[in-house]
Amino acid sequence: MDYQAVLSEVWDAVRPVVGQGRVATYIPALAAVDPRRFGMALATVEGDVYGVGDWREPFSIQSISKVFTLALALARDGDALWRRVGKEPSGNPFNSLVQLEYEQGIPRNPFINAGALVITDRLQRLTGDARGTLRDFLRAESGNPSVDFDPVIAASEADHGHRNRALAHFMASYGNMEGAVPEVLEHYFWQCSLAMSCADLARACGFLARHGQRADGSRLLTRSQAKQVNAVMLTCGTYDAAGEFAYRVGLPGKSGVGGGIIAVIPNRCGLCVWSPGLDARGNSVAGVEALDRFTTLTGLSIF
Ligand code: DON
Repeated sequence: MDYQAVLSEVWDAVRPVVGQGRVATYIPALAAVDPRRFGMALATVEGDVYGVGDWREPFSIQSISKVFTLALALARDGDALWRRVGKEPSGNPFNSLVQLEYEQGIPRNPFINAGALVITDRLQRLTGDARGTLRDFLRAESGNPSVDFDPVIAASEADHGHRNRALAHFMASYGNMEGAVPEVLEHYFWQCSLAMSCADLARACGFLARHGQRADGSRLLTRSQAKQVNAVMLTCGTYDAAGEFAYRVGLPGKSGVGGGIIAVIPNRCGLCVWSPGLDARGNSVAGVEALDRFTTLTGLSIF
């Protein structure tokens, strides 16, 4: 398949919606990004990378980081991890507090903020440096040693992180935080601030297309664990829009409020699209449209 031609066709088709939606403003440093940016990249399991638009431009990965912290914690902890976090769609916004009380401090899944905080807490306990472990992993998988945190974004989120603080303390009250809440939050804010391009992220999710095998051929996850991470992405990766995303795109995917979305085609490639204008549920308008076009055009979905 001529991936470069397909990406160009997708880019042409989505031009009218690029710029639609609203850039995230609850983290002030994200509000400054131009909503008319658009990039898309595809990295094959063999290591070839194709891209269009702003595909080499780093952006704030935000919640996309949650996929990688989940994989890193699951690799070390195995099934024990699921005692502290569920794997069901929440049907609620990513930062919602309501379900946590009904469900005794056990978050519905690892991709809503509460669940991601539990995973970061666990990764911190397992490694002693959750954010550093994540950054090193992403540098290795993307093949880009300059992948790094954006301290301005991290500080901006820390200054406005009342909801995440509330979630973490609430879970601590149920005994579902091992470490000190401020330390867990610090690592979480920094992990979300990582800046990566579509090319970096398309490569970095390759291990999920290779059933758990890393870029260097070593294994992070068992085949079964890679299936589990992909399944949770499909059902929970876009929060209360996961049903619509599965319906339109038909791939495991994970969005972030920076406007990025990664998606995985098992055995074939990792994909990443970035455009900062978000819909009401926090997913990139042009990003979802581009992935919808891509799978419709190519017939490449998991279904
Ligand atoms: O916790 C937060 O609010 C952000 N750092 C990440 C949220 C996010 O990207 C949600 N995704 N759509």
